[in-house]
Amino acid sequence: MDPNASGLAQRLAEAEQCHLLRFWNELSPAEQADLTQDLQGMDFQEMNGFFKNAMQVSSNKHEKLDNHIEPLPREVLGSVTRDRESLKDWELTGLRCISQSKVAVLLLAGGQGTRLGVSYPKGMYDVGLPSHKTLFQIQGERILKLQQLAEQRHKIKCCIPWYIMTSGRTMESTKDFFSKNNYFGLDKNNIIFFQQGMLPAMDYTGKIILENKGKVSMAPDGNGGLYRALGNQGIMDDMERRGVGFIQVYCVDNILVKVADPAFVGFCVQKGADCGAKVVEKTNPTEAVGVVCKVDGRYQVVEYSEITLATAEKRSADGRLMFNAANLAIHFFTFSFLRDVVQKYEPQLQHHVAQKKIPYVDSEGQLIKPDKPNGIKMEKFVFDIFQFAKTFVVYEVLREDEFSPLKNADSQDGKDTPTTARHALMSLHHRWVLNAGGHFIDENGRRVPAIPRDGAAGSVTDDGNRNLKDGTDLPIKCEISPLVSYGGEGLEELVKGREFHPTLIIDEHGVHEQVKNGV
Ligand code: UD1
Repeated sequence: MDPNASGLAQRLAEAEQCHLLRFWNELSPAEQADLTQDLQGMDFQEMNGFFKNAMQVSSNKHEKLDNHIEPLPREVLGSVTRDRESLKDWELTGLRCISQSKVAVLLLAGGQGTRLGVSYPKGMYDVGLPSHKTLFQIQGERILKLQQLAEQRHKIKCCIPWYIMTSGRTMESTKDFFSKNNYFGLDKNNIIFFQQGMLPAMDYTGKIILENKGKVSMAPDGNGGLYRALGNQGIMDDMERRGVGFIQVYCVDNILVKVADPAFVGFCVQKGADCGAKVVEKTNPTEAVGVVCKVDGRYQVVEYSEITLATAEKRSADGRLMFNAANLAIHFFTFSFLRDVVQKYEPQLQHHVAQKKIPYVDSEGQLIKPDKPNGIKMEKFVFDIFQFAKTFVVYEVLREDEFSPLKNADSQDGKDTPTTARHALMSLHHRWVLNAGGHFIDENGRRVPAIPRDGAAGSVTDDGNRNLKDGTDLPIKCEISPLVSYGGEGLEELVKGREFHPTLIIDEHGVHEQVKNGV
């Protein structure tokens, strides 16, 4: 339809974004229809407002942070190591809530996986475990197992609804993958997909960027796009209908994630919290994790891209980093808190600015691939709602048990790669076998020491990435299916007093050893 007749041209003119129609006459009717459809859905005045606010906030952020950031007060912290005596109790509380079908999990899976460099959703990635399970499958099976554990304990059928947020680019492939894999044994009615919004990329003057003559450059609006999507896609209504009371949000790439972790849920419930975050200790100032802290007296996460090195390197009297609560992107919300956020607070959240190299067509219609940043993408962050919580708590866990994210492709000395993720999972499962009274035998028939050598399986370097430079520190190859054990429980009857040759695989078909090389 003619943009003049439809009023589109006028809306663009009013928002000073007319250049988007610059190549209109060169487009085919189909391209014109596509461009019209994309532009009709946009509120350009709103975009301009987002741009103005985001740039303003970002320009004075660093100075503001350095002077106003404070570490977490001790009273909001719970810890799996320091509060060992409460752990069982928290876990039982969480398991009871799960058995009442009050706990849902919400997966943030709308990212583009740019750093990993794959063209498909990250959850479909196979890090090369003996079973070749993908991240989605591992998570799905953990949910299934946890449902069974809750049902066994409370003798009542229950479900953990799994809400999965995708973006325009990942929706179809994600849904297809779940369907092809028979929803990993879960009831498909309890897996609910929904889609986050997209925003246009803009240049530094606030002009929306065209990636080709007939297409606006668009990107997902950040994992904080969650809140708008929850409202406009009817997800809060769905949760209410199902009687969901507590929601654990998590991000797709952490191979060790304890999905619907009963201890975390139970801790938050017992503390009467409406919002909680899971953290591990950050020990390397330059690690790419956000830190949970207070700024101007309000709880928030300061991202790695937003903290100055001087602040990141500050140490407390005990020698630890002062801002050491590394955000795992695993959060807890009560339903009523989440509903308030969606209904009241979401519009108050500001976009963060990411400077990017964004391919564009110039005024002559030439496609340019810039070699330095030429514009911004705007993103809301999932944790920016901590400030609205009445009771906010933080739960500290052990890195080697719960955090090994997949961010980058494999490379020598790489961090957060398929190799480090695979090794972290096998190392955890090795420890589960040892804890349950099993042993490993090496290729010479000798027992592998139960306390791994320095730098060997189970040890971690500063920031949790295993040192892979020489071959001596490869982990024992061992994989335990989540269908057998959620968190190391139930293994004694399978392994106690037994000796195994790696590769050891324990799955729903039994205990197997496969003797072959390479990890
Ligand atoms: C994220 C956290 C960071 C934390 C780190 C731990 C945010 C904003 N940052 O950083 O504080 O220390 O994980 O690994 O949460 N996603 C969407 N939609 C989007 C963008 C991302 O759903 O538009 C999802 C991704 O699919 C992923 C999660 O959000 O599951 C985190 O995104 P990612 O870009 O990997 O975050 P990081 O920068 O690593």
